[in-house]
Amino acid sequence: MKKQLLAVACLGLSFLGNAQNTATLQADSGKVTINKHIYGHFAEHLGTCIYGGFYVGENNTKIPNKDGVRLDIIDALKKLKIPNLRWPGGCFADTYHWKDGIGPKAQRPAMVNTWWGGVTEDNSFGTHDFLNMCELLGTEPYISGNVGSGTVQELKDWTQYINLGAGTSPMSKLREQNGREKPWNVSIWGVGNEAWGCGGNMTADYYANIYRQYATFMAGTDKKGLFRVASGASDADYKWTETLMKNIPHNMLEGVAIHHYSVLSWGEGQKTSATEYTDKEYFKTMQQALLMDELVTKHSAVMDKYDPKKKVALVVDEWGGWYNVENGTNPGFLFQQNTMRDAMIAGATLNIFNNHADRIRMANLAQVVNVLQAVILTKEEKMILTPTYHVMEMYNVHQDATLLPIKVKSNDFVFEGEKLPAVSVSASKDAKGLTHISLTNVDPKNPQEITIDLKGAKYVSVSGRILASEKLRDFNSFDNPNKIQPKAFSGATISGNQLKVKLPAFSVAVLELK
Ligand code: AHR
Repeated sequence: MKKQLLAVACLGLSFLGNAQNTATLQADSGKVTINKHIYGHFAEHLGTCIYGGFYVGENNTKIPNKDGVRLDIIDALKKLKIPNLRWPGGCFADTYHWKDGIGPKAQRPAMVNTWWGGVTEDNSFGTHDFLNMCELLGTEPYISGNVGSGTVQELKDWTQYINLGAGTSPMSKLREQNGREKPWNVSIWGVGNEAWGCGGNMTADYYANIYRQYATFMAGTDKKGLFRVASGASDADYKWTETLMKNIPHNMLEGVAIHHYSVLSWGEGQKTSATEYTDKEYFKTMQQALLMDELVTKHSAVMDKYDPKKKVALVVDEWGGWYNVENGTNPGFLFQQNTMRDAMIAGATLNIFNNHADRIRMANLAQVVNVLQAVILTKEEKMILTPTYHVMEMYNVHQDATLLPIKVKSNDFVFEGEKLPAVSVSASKDAKGLTHISLTNVDPKNPQEITIDLKGAKYVSVSGRILASEKLRDFNSFDNPNKIQPKAFSGATISGNQLKVKLPAFSVAVLELK
């Protein structure tokens, strides 16, 4: 009898250990739009993001290009539906003098890119090149102004050069002389970058005053108002956010930024390898990535104190995994490979952003081509799409859709006594009435089955795609560019008001319900 009781107790315990993941979807309670700008990207004058990445030069006969911009990259990013592109930095932005990058290319002055590799910047890719490229991409430009080493006049002139109608000012006349009559009407502007660090090592109080001064003189567009983003906090610096929210009048502030990278240590060469990381390093990277939820929750709570109606957006304009550079590459160029670990960061982070869409209305993955957690890597005429690209492409169904509340009870991903939720989920309903659910299982060893209770709608069918691979450390290489790509997914079934999903270990799935 004792033996039997023990067996029953053990069975109970093992059942508890493998408890089912559960969730409840409220399909009729959507109130908030997932702003498409959450799916934004970032292109800095850093390493081979611009030069040798996007821009191969007008005289390049080997790589098909338009005005020097590679067309294969344009095509790939169009498929991604990138809503905005941030430029020219990053740290570079606060050293950039835009007038050096206009006019005949041969006459443009050169400078040293002091932040990134100490290389010579010849200014051959400037304002016209960037804004025309954004038109080609069908994306909104997001320009970071130079506050750290620039002047109020310089930023004022830049906004006038870009935004004022033909013939209305000396700056718009200069633009016309350089071959562009119509203004570009750029709405999204960053007022400096990382003002607490590479943007000038300012205190929050000092920067709040400087912000007010710069923002006063920026010229708007004739189409829509300016969307000005204050240089925000690093990670958990809630005091920084509080100071900006308190001291900057909200009629001159549309967004406050934060930056958070999934990095294990900031020392040079002390991060993890991009491809040969240990199980522990994987767990720690995921811990950093999932920390985003706590960070945005707490920054939002600070903002709520000063802006309960949530008029000012939280803008996560730098996020992603940051590792050691690939062997043999310039340490200042931040070139790293991209494995299934990066797909996990992307899937989990985008779920966090979607679920916080009431306050997060813009975000920018760092960075788009050849730098950090890139969606595209290039090597001469070759180009590959990374696992992160595929996640961003699968998730783009959420852009401008209505967020559907979903409550998830997840199993733990346990490592050496520490734990993280294994499964993250977000859901939305698009303009055509289709419901999409994105799910990420960051557990590297255990598949996860999740049962979702579907409330407030009757669904009859489910289809989907999945990104998975044999090994966690797999990546797409120039020799094997399609090793990892989305495939049709048959692991989801609907019965009555229950959706059951079987997620393999370290996988990302996006489902469509009708
Ligand atoms: O994305 C690389 C760098 O990280 C950016 O230039 C800077 O803003 C941040 O520190």
